[in-house]
Amino acid sequence: MERSEEIGLIREIIGLAEQKSAYLDDTISHSPISRYSSPERFAREEAALFRRKPVVAAHSGELDGPSSFLTRSVMGLPVLLVRDAEGQARAFLNVCRHRGATLEREGAGCKRVFTCPYHGWSWTNQGDLRAVPQEKQGFPDLPRAERGLRRLPVAEAHGFIWIIANPEMNEPLNIDDWLGPIADDFRWLDLANHKIAIENTIEVKANWKVLVEGGIEAYHFRVAHANTIAPHFPDNLSTYRCFGPHMRSVLPRTSMTTLTDTPEEKWSIRADANVLYTLMPTTQLLVQQDHVAWINAQPRSEGHTTLRIVTLVPADKIEGDEMQAHWKLNQKITMATLAEDFELGEEIQSGFASRGNPSHLFGRFEGALNRFNLAVEELIAG
Ligand code: FES
Ligand SMILES: [Fe+2]
Repeated sequence: MERSEEIGLIREIIGLAEQKSAYLDDTISHSPISRYSSPERFAREEAALFRRKPVVAAHSGELDGPSSFLTRSVMGLPVLLVRDAEGQARAFLNVCRHRGATLEREGAGCKRVFTCPYHGWSWTNQGDLRAVPQEKQGFPDLPRAERGLRRLPVAEAHGFIWIIANPEMNEPLNIDDWLGPIADDFRWLDLANHKIAIENTIEVKANWKVLVEGGIEAYHFRVAHANTIAPHFPDNLSTYRCFGPHMRSVLPRTSMTTLTDTPEEKWSIRADANVLYTLMPTTQLLVQQDHVAWINAQPRSEGHTTLRIVTLVPADKIEGDEMQAHWKLNQKITMATLAEDFELGEEIQSGFASRGNPSHLFGRFEGALNRFNLAVEELIAG
């Protein structure tokens, strides 16, 4: 983020606080509940977003060193992520090309060759078929080149390994093209020099967009988070900007509204606000003073989302018992606050079945929710 932009965002917050005004869109808007509750709609999102757009599959530090690998489900696909001997990240379907067994059963490790646990076919970590037991007799003239592991588009950028969870797509992936102008902020964040301190994975019985909506407004803080974070934040004060389909929100702490007494050169957005990046479709980064909370969503169905919540910290701030205890406590507070949001999300989701609300209402200070939904609609429309 440019320094001038950082100052501008802080000035905007101070200005709103002085006027005692929220950040307002021109009008209220409506959000039909079919967006969140219809299986047909979910299938369209899967085709247009989850299986078509770049998603974060892992932090770069999770593929640590040559010939390391990871297996995980990404957008419902079994994926094998590999760093080959040259250090290049690769992504394959974790499915055997003989008769479809799961090729690698371990979650992580280090291997140059992957051997199927069913009949023992094997592949190099570059995806090439290496050996087929009793090949001459059983598979004469096997076109080996056609039996390489199914590749997925992959790129390593800004500290993450991104893939498109679709073996039918084979165009090269340019993450900075996808991020557009928001890529500048990723250079500022320097997440390649961060490490995972602690993480949790939870299942939430709510639509993925209900959960995103819960994070991009500050209207609910005073009520829903009265017992956790509300005392640290001014009531209903946040701003947002859209960058193509992505969004950056500024959620100031109370301390930001008193910065007028501090010389501008000492202002720092991270010191006095949380900056939340909502990357289409399913990654959120909550940038805080000394770390980043990375929230990765895996939408399972219209009413079920798996969330992985990871504390990313600067590489030089992870070692030692004191730091470990600090990050553990921090994650506990994050999870307690998110639990308040997720409980509400699950209640909202179960309320859809009542059909009492044909649509939800977004107030003028909830404009970010409308813009996020419009970005989804636009991508679905192609
Ligand atoms: S299914 Fe993998 S070797 Fe047969
Ligand atoms: Fe919340």
